[in-house]
Amino acid sequence: MGTYAVTGSASGMGAASAETLAAAGHTVIGVDLHDADIIADLGTAGGREQAAEEILTRCGGTLDGVAAIAGVGPNLPDAAAVMSINYFGPVRLLELLRPALAAADAGRAVAIGSNAATTVPLIDDRLVELALAGEEEAAREHARAAAAAMPAELRELAPSISAYASSKFALARWIRRTAVTPEWARQGVLLNAIAPGAVLTPLMLGSTGEAGDPDRFPTPMPLGVFGEPADIAFWVHQFLKREARFTTGAILYVDGGTDAAMRPDGTPTAMSLG
Ligand code: NAI
Repeated sequence: MGTYAVTGSASGMGAASAETLAAAGHTVIGVDLHDADIIADLGTAGGREQAAEEILTRCGGTLDGVAAIAGVGPNLPDAAAVMSINYFGPVRLLELLRPALAAADAGRAVAIGSNAATTVPLIDDRLVELALAGEEEAAREHARAAAAAMPAELRELAPSISAYASSKFALARWIRRTAVTPEWARQGVLLNAIAPGAVLTPLMLGSTGEAGDPDRFPTPMPLGVFGEPADIAFWVHQFLKREARFTTGAILYVDGGTDAAMRPDGTPTAMSLG
């Protein structure tokens, strides 16, 4: 049985994933702002380092897998915090834990993105660029300024919607770029992402209020149901298995068909010769 770190373990998808891993007999190290084995704020550089240090102490330097699930929604008023928590949090923690994953021989990492990355038409290219360049301070400043410049009605509805979608877009791109580098791929550490859609958690209900009828939801829900945290935990578990050994750099939509309905021809995109 293995040892797995799960961020966001106190609620929603993180809690369901921790439960699924524990039920399979694994040791789970939960990280969250509250009600967890390790209490840390992954929205700060110090919090990420503290979390990594405590995880390494608890696992003895060898970690079978990490599920980077902690995150916030588009209704958070501070767009800078959204960037720090949703992008820099998972990226930095995964970088700090990579050697421990490599030591496990078949380390596995999975991060939670969002289908907002491809279904919300508000991606801020500059913000994505700053995130991928590792410029946290500049990204925070840019996110705040861009949020303040949004039309008032949009700001009232979801003050950080652009930063949210952009943070998840940048995370997906970072996963694809990073997974194939020798530091990860040749160390046997697989790195994948899940892009959930509407999943009934405190985060979703906090942004949308009562979820109501899936057929009246603002984005299409082809399966006619919202997701449950366990629907995401199922795939988190699959990605973390040692047997999942030939998939890396994947972004798996677990969204009831929303992305396929909104962008049926968006993927695959053909390789161009130019
Ligand atoms: P949730 O609110 O139920 O759980 C998120 C957990 O992350 C909470 O326990 C919270 O305390 C923790 N967290 C937040 N900020 C933190 C910080 N700075 N440091 C440490 N822990 C922190 O939300 P849910 O829905 O389970 O979200 C999990 C992930 O799924 C998030 O990354 C979210 O963006 C993403 N997501 C959620 C969707 C949904 O419909 N619920 C859709 C797409 C993506």
